Amino acid sequence: MLQCLTAAEREQVVFFDDLTPNQPSHILDRYPLLRSVAEAQDYLARTDHRFVLGLGGPALRQRLAVQFQGWGGVLTTTMAATAVVGPHVAGVGVGANIMHYVLVAPSARLGEGVLLNAGAAVHHDVEVGAYCEVSPGARLLGRCRLGSSCQVGAMAVVLPDVVIGVNAIIGAGAVVTRNVPAGTTVVGVPARPLQTSRK
Ligand SMILES: CC(C)(COP(=O)(O)OP(=O)(O)OC[C@H]1O[C@@H](n2cnc3c(N)ncnc32)[C@H](O)[C@@H]1OP(=O)(O)O)[C@@H](O)C(=O)NCCC(=O)NCCS
Repeated sequence: MLQCLTAAEREQVVFFDDLTPNQPSHILDRYPLLRSVAEAQDYLARTDHRFVLGLGGPALRQRLAVQFQGWGGVLTTTMAATAVVGPHVAGVGVGANIMHYVLVAPSARLGEGVLLNAGAAVHHDVEVGAYCEVSPGARLLGRCRLGSSCQVGAMAVVLPDVVIGVNAIIGAGAVVTRNVPAGTTVVGVPARPLQTSRK
């Protein structure tokens, strides 16, 4: 995430992590770390109200967005300098994180809090639901649609017009040729559901 910010933006960065025990007071010996809810609330109240989600899966990202907005924080979008997001994109939801070398093609629409990791490609007329996580190098091809909070593994390909239900998980390297029901995990080429007994 740091790599996706400008030098001026990096000067203002403060991290938040209340999950990892025994963290130092600074990340990389430089960036202050807020280690508790109380510290984060205090920081938002007295200084800059903006926050970005950084990395993490859909559930964590959504929880943090709701929590920080509840404390008066302003959910903010980040876009790396090398990302190509053209003027004809249908929409980019607030709080999206668009990492280096991402392509978002014309008429594509990104929901609130979407994470597009490095090198992901979202082609024309694709819809990516709120809080979806699209991993490095994944390809979402023309007009496919992802419901909210889906996870697409690294280098996976979703073929044109395919519809992915909410909370579905696409395994790394999968090629998705058919619609995927909500909450289903699929893997392989062509992608097939992971059997419950194997989970
Ligand atoms: C699909 C996925 C979510 C399954 O995770 P899981 O439920 O913990 O599954 P397991 O690791 O227990 O594997 C279950 C079975 O599926 C197979 N499997 C897991 N992931 C697979 C994949 N991507 N493609 C093909 N088979 C896969 C395993 O080999 C295993 O098979 P087996 O029972 O015959 O040994 C996960 O493996 C995956 O691909 N995640 C994406 C990771 C990613 O891209 N992260 C990006 C971070 S930036």
